[in-house]
Amino acid sequence: MAFYNNIVFLTGAGISAESGLDTFRDKGGLWAKYDLMELATPEAFLRKPDLVHEFYNARRKQVKKVLPNEAHSALARMEMEYAGHITIITQNVDDLHERAGAINLMHMHGELNKIRCENCGVVCPWTDDLGRKTKCPSCGRPGELRPHIVWFGEVPFYLEAIGIMLRECDLFVSIGTSGSVYPAAGFVQTARAFGAKTVELNMEPTAGKDVFDEGHYGRATEIVPEFVNTLTNLH
Ligand code: OAD
Repeated sequence: MAFYNNIVFLTGAGISAESGLDTFRDKGGLWAKYDLMELATPEAFLRKPDLVHEFYNARRKQVKKVLPNEAHSALARMEMEYAGHITIITQNVDDLHERAGAINLMHMHGELNKIRCENCGVVCPWTDDLGRKTKCPSCGRPGELRPHIVWFGEVPFYLEAIGIMLRECDLFVSIGTSGSVYPAAGFVQTARAFGAKTVELNMEPTAGKDVFDEGHYGRATEIVPEFVNTLTNLH
């Protein structure tokens, strides 16, 4: 395989599925069990803050119980070993990439293990339950903390930096994402328009598969290490 100077990996819930975390849109996924409009919008948080806190508290607890898998590890290993520049953009709010050792990582949809104060704006690490009465560790006000998660209707993080990465990369690899949520779903088109080779690694071909030059299908714990090996063995 050719050498690439700049590789962007975009990851989604499928990369964490075999660690034991639910995806969103698969059969039995989170948005099949719960109504996303009741849980993942700023309006839902205004209407029913306890319900929203409960949902994210449960997910925070679940993430503590699981471990990174071979797919997360393969990407982290690649970051260490590959001579080119690697960036991981993840839509996932779990911390499995960083626990596997990833460093150059952008959580564009936020992080379960961080909270934000709507009063003072501070963002800080948080691994416990969060509730309406929890006081901000920085300004001390109760009732102003929210999960540091990008909800529907909000603008994802790092978009400017991501735009630069997409224009500069020569290989764009989408892993375990259905490509249903924009702007992430459109990243492949941008990378392609600026000349990158585009690859999809997923359990099955997605609706947007035709935008990719190449696709490899199967479990992330198998196809991601395999793909990483083909890139690293030659360099
Ligand atoms: P989805 O649930 O939409 O898609 C997960 C994809 O992973 C599907 O295409 C599956 O086929 C694939 N998949 C499942 N198990 C897999 C495995 N073991 N190996 C490889 N692939 C597997 O999740 P996302 O695309 O990540 O946003 O969803 C995007 C965004 O929608 C999320 O970040 C979240 C959600 O609403 C916010 O919360 C803002």
